Amino acid sequence: MIILAVESSCDESSVAVLKDYKEVLSHIVLSQIDIHKVYGGVVPEIASRNHVVHMTRVFEQAILNAGIKESDIDLVAVTRGPGLIGSLLVGINAATAFAFAHQKPIIGINHLIGHIYAANLEHEMKFPALALLVSGGHTELIYMEKHMSFKMLGTTFDDAVGEAYDKVARTLGLSYPGGPIVDKLAALGKDTYNLPRPFLDKTKFDFSFSGLKSAVINLVHNAEQRNETIDVNNMCASFQASVLDVLIEKTRLAADTYDVKQIIVAGGVAANRGLRARIHQEIPNREIIMPSMKYCTDNAAMIGAAAFYYNDAVGPLPNYLLGGSSTLNIEEL
Ligand code: KG4
Ligand code: ZN
Repeated sequence: MIILAVESSCDESSVAVLKDYKEVLSHIVLSQIDIHKVYGGVVPEIASRNHVVHMTRVFEQAILNAGIKESDIDLVAVTRGPGLIGSLLVGINAATAFAFAHQKPIIGINHLIGHIYAANLEHEMKFPALALLVSGGHTELIYMEKHMSFKMLGTTFDDAVGEAYDKVARTLGLSYPGGPIVDKLAALGKDTYNLPRPFLDKTKFDFSFSGLKSAVINLVHNAEQRNETIDVNNMCASFQASVLDVLIEKTRLAADTYDVKQIIVAGGVAANRGLRARIHQEIPNREIIMPSMKYCTDNAAMIGAAAFYYNDAVGPLPNYLLGGSSTLNIEEL
């Protein structure tokens, strides 16, 4: 099955062509990060407008690189949410127009399910599995009994972990997106600031990161008032140590409670080098899979990977309609 997949939920215009769920024939990701950097975050209206400018070219390049003809495509898949509504609409309209013009079936894929299935591109999912989904908008522990079955075990009560990374970075005068920079500087510093480990004492699987973020902001502001300097590397190391202590401990607890065969770590924050190293060391008794770095942040290949199983689970959908989740409980995400 040849799948043409489209992702435009935030500031990446991405199209990929996949053969079944494993073979990525082409994969284009056009990032707008340099445009949004000057504003310290993604500006939704600017993101939508740039998707409009580039989307057709990204489609053409992906098909060209895959070495296929439009008629070879069996299924079109597009991110249907969650995300920035203007950005989503550009991808959905482009994919729907393409499907209509070439008489192909089209399905809508949940962005978070896409992130989880990114792990299946280079590994084999085994069930029951536990997914730790950590991105700019989400922090979730999800139990998967089988393909396309999702039970939310825990989520964040406030900030998502990636969002906390970005806000802490901004407070420290680092550029956007903050996650990769904080991760890099954390490796150069030490955990000296004694930050809180939010919710670590709770037996539930929920998270909270706004208190931790506020702790960093308060320390930075107090230091400014006293004309003291903050050791940025040590602050990054302290923040990251606190985040990882919580993420890894909750993941370990959920994996033990549900006795899963595999742990899947996915989403933009899964690119975190500290997390990738520590989770293997601290949960040595379970198989842990995660996408390679290029499939952690937003990309269309992950949407194609999920589409293969979604199509399999739901069966053929009416042509030209974005598939709903009907019998599946994926709406929970
Ligand atoms: O999955 P993603 O590309 O977009 C969303 O769906 O949100 O995730 C983007 C988030 C940003 O908050 C970014 O700072 C964070 O992932 N991120 C990281 C790293 N790389 C990206 N956070 C921590 N460490 C990283 N290495
Ligand atoms: Zn994402």
